[in-house]
Amino acid sequence: MKKSVWIIAGLLLPVLGWASGGAMYPNDEIDVDWGDKAAMQRGAKLFVNYCMGCHSLEYMRYNRMGKDLGISDELLRENLIFTTNKNGEQTKVGEQMRINMDKEYAETAFGTAPPDLTLIARSRGTHWLYNYLRGFYVDDSRPLGVNNSVFPNVGMPHVLMGLEGLKKAVVETHKDDEGNEKAVIVGFEKISDGSMSEAEYNQAVKDLVSFLDYVGEPIKQKRKNVGIGVLVFLFIFLILAILLKKEYWKDVH
Ligand code: HEC
Repeated sequence: MKKSVWIIAGLLLPVLGWASGGAMYPNDEIDVDWGDKAAMQRGAKLFVNYCMGCHSLEYMRYNRMGKDLGISDELLRENLIFTTNKNGEQTKVGEQMRINMDKEYAETAFGTAPPDLTLIARSRGTHWLYNYLRGFYVDDSRPLGVNNSVFPNVGMPHVLMGLEGLKKAVVETHKDDEGNEKAVIVGFEKISDGSMSEAEYNQAVKDLVSFLDYVGEPIKQKRKNVGIGVLVFLFIFLILAILLKKEYWKDVH
C-alpha cells in the first residue's frame, strides 16, 4: 500500500513541476512552421546581428544553414558572416558558427559565460525561449539594470532593447501553499519605446525562435516533408486498392 502511494506521488511530480511552470509570465505559445524559410532567414539575420557577439552555434556551419534556408554563399558572406580569424580574414562559409569572444573574458564580464545555443531549442523548448526573450524588464537592483521574469537574475543583458524598448514589471503578492507571501509578476508596463511595435517585436522573437528551432534539429524539416509524402502515397494507394478490389469482385455474385 505504502509503496503504491510513493509510486503515484512519483508519477505526479512532473505534473506538479509543470503546473508551477504554468505560473510564469509571459506564458504564450507559438507554433513554429518548419516550412517557413523566410521566417528562419529573418531569424538568422537577427541572430548574427544581436546574439553572435556572445553566443556561438558550434554545431552548425554557415553553408549548411545557407543550403537549408536557401541563402547563397555570396549572401552569407555579405550579410551573415561578421567574424574573422586571427589574421583578420572573414570566416569561411564552410566553417562552424563560432564566436570571437574569449570564454574567460565573458565569465568576468557577465558572471557566467554565454552558452552555445545550437541545442537550446531542444533543451529549453520553443515555448520557453519565446517567453524568455520577451521577459526582460527594468530592475535597478541588478548589475545590468534588467532582470527577466522567466529566468530570474539572469546574467544576460537585454540585447533587443533597441527593438522592444523597456518595460517594468507589474507585481502582485500572492500567498503560496504554506501561506507565505510571494511577489509574482503578472504583467508589464511599457516605459520607453523601441523601434518596433509590440506586434512587430513578438514576430521578430518568433522568427528568432524558429531559427533556433531549425538549428537544433535541421533534419526536422525534411523528416516532416517525407512524412507528408508517405501519407499522400498511402492515400493514393488506398484509392487504387479500392478500385482494384471493385474490379476483381465485379463479376463474382
Ligand atoms: C552581451 C552578451 C550576450 C548577448 C549579445 C546575448 N546573450 Fe544570451 N546570454 C548571455 C549570458 C552571459 C547568458 C548566461 C546567463 C546566465 O546563465 O545567467 C545568456 C543566456 C542566454 C540564454 C539562456 C541559456 C540557458 O542557460 O538556458 C538564452 C536562451 C540566450 N542567452 C539567448 C540569447 C539570444 C537569442 C540572443 C540574441 C537576441 C542573446 N542571447 C544575446 C549573454 C548574451
